[in-house]
Amino acid sequence: DWTMRAFREEEIQKIRQQVGKGKVICGLSGGVDSAVAAVLIHEAIGDQLTCVFVDHGMLRLDEAKTVVDLFRHHYNIPLVHVDASKQFLGELEGVTDPEKKRKTIGRLFIEVFEQEAKKLGGADFLAQGTLYPDVIESVSFTGGPSVTIKSHHNVGGLPERMNMKLVEPLRELFKDEVRKLGYELGLPEIFVGRHPFPGPGLAIRCPGDITRDKLDILRKADAVYIDQIRKHGLYDDIWQAFAVLLPVKTVGVMGDGRTYDYVVGLRAVTSTDGMTADFYQFDMKFLGETATRIINEVKGVNRVVYDVTSKPPGTIEWE
Ligand code: XMP
Repeated sequence: DWTMRAFREEEIQKIRQQVGKGKVICGLSGGVDSAVAAVLIHEAIGDQLTCVFVDHGMLRLDEAKTVVDLFRHHYNIPLVHVDASKQFLGELEGVTDPEKKRKTIGRLFIEVFEQEAKKLGGADFLAQGTLYPDVIESVSFTGGPSVTIKSHHNVGGLPERMNMKLVEPLRELFKDEVRKLGYELGLPEIFVGRHPFPGPGLAIRCPGDITRDKLDILRKADAVYIDQIRKHGLYDDIWQAFAVLLPVKTVGVMGDGRTYDYVVGLRAVTSTDGMTADFYQFDMKFLGETATRIINEVKGVNRVVYDVTSKPPGTIEWE
């Protein structure tokens, strides 16, 4: 794709110009955007870049392994893997307000990056995989009144007092363009084709307060759901699919006993840029089978519901 080839060359020049001889750290989230940004920046400035992958304790199953494998083994890009789950989950304890969750996570990300930058002997720039829709949605909702829908952690969540300047080479791109750029840069198909995953991670898929127990249940339910989608060959037809853990317990019956467990919500949408989305029309047989598998395989869940809300009026994530 010649547009992406041209974009790649142009951005490489721009990055070199902005960064000079400075040191850059790039936060990886496990998502496609930050991975593409990192590979592009590495191409521009090589060893002046260090990637930092923060495990905030709200990642999907096996996420850390996937990212570490890709960067350390496939690309040989220096990568620091930080386990900051204690810090994040500690500060999020009892926090139920969605914007407060996002802002807390955004602030902690910066704190962790600054700590890591210090350990590396200082960094001048922080690189992020911010996309055009992230910028717009954090500022205002197109066509409507000027209100913040959500503070995307890589845009609105940043504290003003941050010491590092931002490098955001994808700021003008939409998701489909980032994927094209990812292929252009030689990222593996399996990684580029992954559904988007938000920086705040499972925190915004766990309405109400977040605990390790709830996150474990959610991670397992999500893995079963995605496995079902892949097994039925539906993964690439869907723009984004994930499970949500509701902060509600309901009564059920299993064997000859009463159960009182959590409800899992399933979300799947089609979209081109995440700005608008339609709920995905699974057939009922698939949904029934998936519900049965989740309830049988994930302890703590006894009910599964499917979200049939499009965007607008719903957003894709639940918070
Ligand atoms: P919403 O829920 O706003 O999501 O309809 C639109 C798309 O953006 C992703 N998303 C985020 N991505 N940081 C990110 O990098 C964030 O804070 C964030 N919040 C939502 C969401 O997963 C969906 O693909």
